[in-house]
Amino acid sequence: MTTRETASALSFAGDTVLITGTARGIGRACAVRFAERGATVVGGDRLDQSETVGACAELTGDFEPVDADVTDPAAVAALVEHAADTGRIDVVVNVAGIVAREPIETHDGEPWARSMDVNLTAPFRIVREAAPHLRETSGTIVNVSSIYGQIGAAERAGYASTKAGLDGLTRALAAELGTDGVRANAVAPGFIETPMTAPYAEDDAARERFRGLAALDRLGEPTEVASVVTFLAGDAASFVTGETVLVDGGRATVE
Ligand SMILES: NC(=O)c1ccc[n+]([C@@H]2O[C@H](COP(=O)([O-])OP(=O)(O)OC[C@H]3O[C@@H](n4cnc5c(N)ncnc54)[C@H](OP(=O)(O)O)[C@@H]3O)[C@@H](O)[C@H]2O)c1
Repeated sequence: MTTRETASALSFAGDTVLITGTARGIGRACAVRFAERGATVVGGDRLDQSETVGACAELTGDFEPVDADVTDPAAVAALVEHAADTGRIDVVVNVAGIVAREPIETHDGEPWARSMDVNLTAPFRIVREAAPHLRETSGTIVNVSSIYGQIGAAERAGYASTKAGLDGLTRALAAELGTDGVRANAVAPGFIETPMTAPYAEDDAARERFRGLAALDRLGEPTEVASVVTFLAGDAASFVTGETVLVDGGRATVE
């Protein structure tokens, strides 16, 4: 591959990228990374997105915030329509997620059902709405899963189950949409410093424990997930589909 081909494989100029969970954390890092590479990013979140708007303001591409609770089917339809109104949808990145920590005895209706709604049903609905557009562009899907979809984690029955389900959804989408050139992949982060993990990162003992679990002996940054997301979404990964890529500093696979 020549340098010119490499550069074009990393560019998203002229593309529309739909991302959820863009108000902060990994979602915001993804929005910035795609906008740096020229994309029009449509970002759905239920939180205020002004910091993401600011972070993307000076970049080559655009960031368009949309108020959306991804568990609301009408909001999902409106979010996808907003993206499609740009004329195309090239990439869908499902980032919005929640983690509920409960012992199995009390992990009843609320945390289980809410985890299913946000972490698994919402990505399913978003892709269902976006699929006709993705078939037209031979677009790509990247789902943000977790290492907890692959390794056990006490008191996280809902979280681990939904992330394992998301990996399964990713492979099913790869199988079903591949004949139209649509690729579907997932990333499975380890411990990444975001507002979601702040309670652990701010606790010295917990921070040390999680740091020590990674072969690289440190916690991860949201930009390190975003880099892999953009790689999987772009032409540099043109023959990769149905894959879940660990982004965990060597935690799940290295002793
Ligand atoms: N950070 C990690 O170590 C780590 C590790 C593995 C996997 N992940 C996954 O990476 C993704 C992003 O995590 P993060 O650490 O960046 O989390 P975060 O800092 O909590 O950001 C997630 C964003 O998604 C939003 N969101 C949640 N539920 C939503 C809903 N129903 N509708 C719209 N937006 C919603 C959140 O808003 P609210 O505050 O309103 O919920 C928040 O803005 C998640 O899927 C998570 O499971 C993270």
